[in-house]
Amino acid sequence: MCGIVAYSGYNEAYPILINGLRRLEYRGYDSAGVALMQDGKITLYKKRGKVSDLDEFCADKNTESHVGIAHTRWATHGEPSEENAHPHLSEDGSIALIHNGIVENYVSLKQELQRIGYTFKSETDTEVLVHLIKDVQAKENLPLADAVMLALTRVEGTYALAILSTDNPDQLIVAKKGSPLLIGVGKNEYFIGSDGAPIVEYTKKVVYLEDGDVAVVTPKKPLVIRNINDEEHLRKRPYFQKLEMSLDQLEKGGFETYMLKEIFEQPKAITDSMRGRINLKKDVVSLGGIIEYESKMMNAKRFIIAACGTSWHAGLVAEYLFESLIRVPVEVEYASEFRYRNPIIHEDDVLIAISQSGETADTLAAVELAKRHGATVIGICNVVGSTLARETMAGSYTHAGPEIGVASTKAFTAQVTVLALMALSLAHKTGTISRSQYHQLVNDLESIPDKIEMVLKQEQFIQKIAQFVATRPNAIFLGRGVNYPVALEGALKLKEISYIHAEGYPAAEMKHGPIALIDEHMPVIVVATEQQTYDKVVSNIQEVIARKGTVISVVTEGDTTVKNMSKFCIEIPHTEELLTPLVATVPLQILAYHVALIRGCNVDRPRNLAKSVSVE
Ligand code: F6R
Repeated sequence: MCGIVAYSGYNEAYPILINGLRRLEYRGYDSAGVALMQDGKITLYKKRGKVSDLDEFCADKNTESHVGIAHTRWATHGEPSEENAHPHLSEDGSIALIHNGIVENYVSLKQELQRIGYTFKSETDTEVLVHLIKDVQAKENLPLADAVMLALTRVEGTYALAILSTDNPDQLIVAKKGSPLLIGVGKNEYFIGSDGAPIVEYTKKVVYLEDGDVAVVTPKKPLVIRNINDEEHLRKRPYFQKLEMSLDQLEKGGFETYMLKEIFEQPKAITDSMRGRINLKKDVVSLGGIIEYESKMMNAKRFIIAACGTSWHAGLVAEYLFESLIRVPVEVEYASEFRYRNPIIHEDDVLIAISQSGETADTLAAVELAKRHGATVIGICNVVGSTLARETMAGSYTHAGPEIGVASTKAFTAQVTVLALMALSLAHKTGTISRSQYHQLVNDLESIPDKIEMVLKQEQFIQKIAQFVATRPNAIFLGRGVNYPVALEGALKLKEISYIHAEGYPAAEMKHGPIALIDEHMPVIVVATEQQTYDKVVSNIQEVIARKGTVISVVTEGDTTVKNMSKFCIEIPHTEELLTPLVATVPLQILAYHVALIRGCNVDRPRNLAKSVSVE
């Protein structure tokens, strides 16, 4: 959600911090702030709005400093404002703190601090932390790092923290529980980030903090990491890793927006997701990351898929893939509901958690719950080294490359690719599909990147359809079978970036209610590719036309029946039914994208949203 960047070293801190905030802005973008250590004192600049507003505001200010912390916010407690923006300062101005996460017991802590005389300037949960740390430090007369460790034992919830203090002007204290934080190690300098984006430009040597870790970061000195859960607070040996990210991946590469770049990157993303996983003779599809747990998966009595948003839609596609190919029941769960409804989980269940970021709080909670019940827990995620990757027993990366646009595109198709590989591999090994069906699907999967290329060529035509949809206040998306999740995903993309109200439905469900909405003003986007239920979908389209709805269809090339019934018709190459979502989703992404552009919306940073929802 929020983005954290911090620096301590011999270089000018401000350009590193502001550049880092720009790279992190996709995580939250309602306000931003920076605290700099200048001549032993902390200077604070905060601004409501974008990082560029903060930078403009600082243009005529003195920003000379070698140590600082900076933050871009996604509001949880308190509206976007300068007061609520981070960093937050202690009353005496000696400590500045930035925070990502939620302090769940902030009300009781705040009341306690208010009773002993602390006053609060903001409505945030975060400000509690700065006063609490200051209070513990003053009462116990402790060095700041020890005060932080003690204070954090009283905090319920999640946090990634970076703290600046006048006690040790060069030093940063950072801490993590439930929200990601990594330390980039340079030569005599350190970089802190809530992900690798603000760090990769400077170093690839990183340490991912673990839950409970508190690190003292001082240039020219080794990192000192201790964990609040270790009673003796012994120093841990830092585990250095290589940051799997490149700067190119974070740039727009000639595209107007990240979202468009990511839509067009899908052929490559899918190729990368398959790379090394299908052997030359196509006899074996194998996902290295799950080999150890393959027999558990082959003997699973049930698969539970837990995810949120677009990743949940990928899970719905997997339900069709797994049930058709492996013949094992699959339940697809909203992670946020699953965790709170006392679900029945058996030891022979396999839970697959899907998440682009690997940091979605609800998905991680579902993982925790399934582990507690003894189930096998497998992860599918895009961000290497993310919490999901570390908390699951095994898993597969999607290798789609960083996804910066807030609306998920290439991560979805890469997730479906990995899920298809998983289903094919298990089906082949358990013998639930014939050799010829297996080969047909593997061949088709390998041809998906080329098929997507063909769809991408239709961008200009889809732009014309967008002109029409952009004038409408509502839209309905319909699909059946494996295309039902495609309809849901099409509707989600449209609503989240263009703010047009859109609903996705299984086509046959329409007559049980939503049909009441259809009149001459309602665009109905129907995914009607070649499939088992094609004729039924045609009947559903007839029902729409009978009520004067405007049909926009996605069909298999050569189709004339649905084409003749549609105002606009997008043709996609023939694809095996089970793999159709990989191709059919793409025109809907392009449609949503152009509708949003026409309506003047910020497609990369839609209002109210943030990438990586690390709060409940
Ligand atoms: C929609 C979108 C969100 C995410 C959801 C889960 O375009 O991006 O719905 O899919 O917040 O995020 P991850 O996949 O990171 O767990």
